[in-house]
Amino acid sequence: MKYQFPQNFYWGSAASATQTEGEAFQAGKGTNIWDHWYQQEPNRFHNGVSATEASTFYRNYQSDIQLMKDIGHNSFRTSISWSRLIPNGVGEVNREAVEFYSNVIDEQIKQGVQPFICLFHFDMPMAMQEIGGFENREVLDAYANFAETCFKLYGDRVKHWFTFNEPIVPVEGGYLYDFHYPNVVDFKRASTVAFHTMLAHAKAVEKYRALDQDGQIGIILNLTPSYPRSQNPADLKAANICDLMFNRSFLDPAVKGEYPQELVELLKQHDQMPVVEVGDCELIAKGKIDLLGVNYYQPRRVKARENAVHPEAPFMPEHFFDYYEMPGRKMNPHRGWEIYEKGVYDILTNLKDNYGNVPCYISENGMGVEGEEKFLVDGQIQDDYRIDFIKGHLKWLHKGIEEGANCLGYHLWTFIDNWSWCNAYKNRYGFYQLDLKTQKRSVKKSGEWYAGVSKANGFED
Ligand code: BG6
Repeated sequence: MKYQFPQNFYWGSAASATQTEGEAFQAGKGTNIWDHWYQQEPNRFHNGVSATEASTFYRNYQSDIQLMKDIGHNSFRTSISWSRLIPNGVGEVNREAVEFYSNVIDEQIKQGVQPFICLFHFDMPMAMQEIGGFENREVLDAYANFAETCFKLYGDRVKHWFTFNEPIVPVEGGYLYDFHYPNVVDFKRASTVAFHTMLAHAKAVEKYRALDQDGQIGIILNLTPSYPRSQNPADLKAANICDLMFNRSFLDPAVKGEYPQELVELLKQHDQMPVVEVGDCELIAKGKIDLLGVNYYQPRRVKARENAVHPEAPFMPEHFFDYYEMPGRKMNPHRGWEIYEKGVYDILTNLKDNYGNVPCYISENGMGVEGEEKFLVDGQIQDDYRIDFIKGHLKWLHKGIEEGANCLGYHLWTFIDNWSWCNAYKNRYGFYQLDLKTQKRSVKKSGEWYAGVSKANGFED
């Protein structure tokens, strides 16, 4: 069967500043929470590898963008590092960084790879974290000023902006589950950071609209469908609470301009509401987006809790559900994540039916593989598993589009194997293999295959 995609479909991949640039302590960049945390606790990073060892995009962006073109990219998302552009979070702008991002954007345009630019991919400047990060409302204004600086510098050339990538992840990692700095475990502080992040988003959207530039602004959300074990009301309730907490907590304000009443009631009932000030709801209403980026890796399967909560345990989302391992689920054994291709269709259908069919694209989807060198044959990674993974998701995406979903593109995570926070280089995701010692990039079989898909604007299977 032939899977043909709409004209001007975005084919590309995604990455982020901190994960690819390197030069973490050079070229005038200020420190961010990752640089700081590594200095404090290098043992928290896989094999003790820090962001200073990221894949040298700062130095090699020109040849890297050429490599994007070689595998048929017509678009590529990265982010602007706040701590590189404005080292202290507020105040002086780093001229070298202004030029660097300008050059990257120009080079992408020159090579026919549209720049999709995100303004925050987990990398809070340390100077901002020291005053409380997104718990402190001053930081919201600092972020909005940083965003406005970017719009003014690059808005003439960048037509696709994203305020945040997966804004729930710093909330989960930093304030609930101990996998990002500042390693706090406190639901109320987490809900405050989540709410304030959306206020910061709305402030940035407001700044963008005021400049009247002819582009689009959106947000990138990791929308993980919550599937209940069964139709038992207790399982359905567990799945609904997950959906409220992990998806709708960001999706509703971003697309509808308001929070689900059910979520507000739930947090009130458990005394976990952030402080809402006069004017906040009006501001959230102004944060409605033009374009939604959807990151999808794996589903969330849940069931009703089997045991009572320990009375002294801190309040957590898991008070309302247990994770459920569905028998017979398809796994990516190299990362330990379930593969469920239909999830992409379920997300698109939900956006079509319940979110006004907001224009969207798949902004991340991908398959991490630990120890991928074992698939090297004659110097090339034979990643047929990744080709199957992409095909499987594209087929469901295609079906969604045929049924009317407003999905405009597909970006893989990621372009070249890159550094990934605490997992550093553990799981490889790229179209290009990275040799950590020499920094040599070698195209994988999937990269060559993707070039053909992009050229044909589809594939046969
Ligand atoms: C995505 C993030 O959710 O997962 C990326 O946006 C991250 O920043 C990617 O690198 C892969 O994560 P991991 O833990 O498998 O390396």
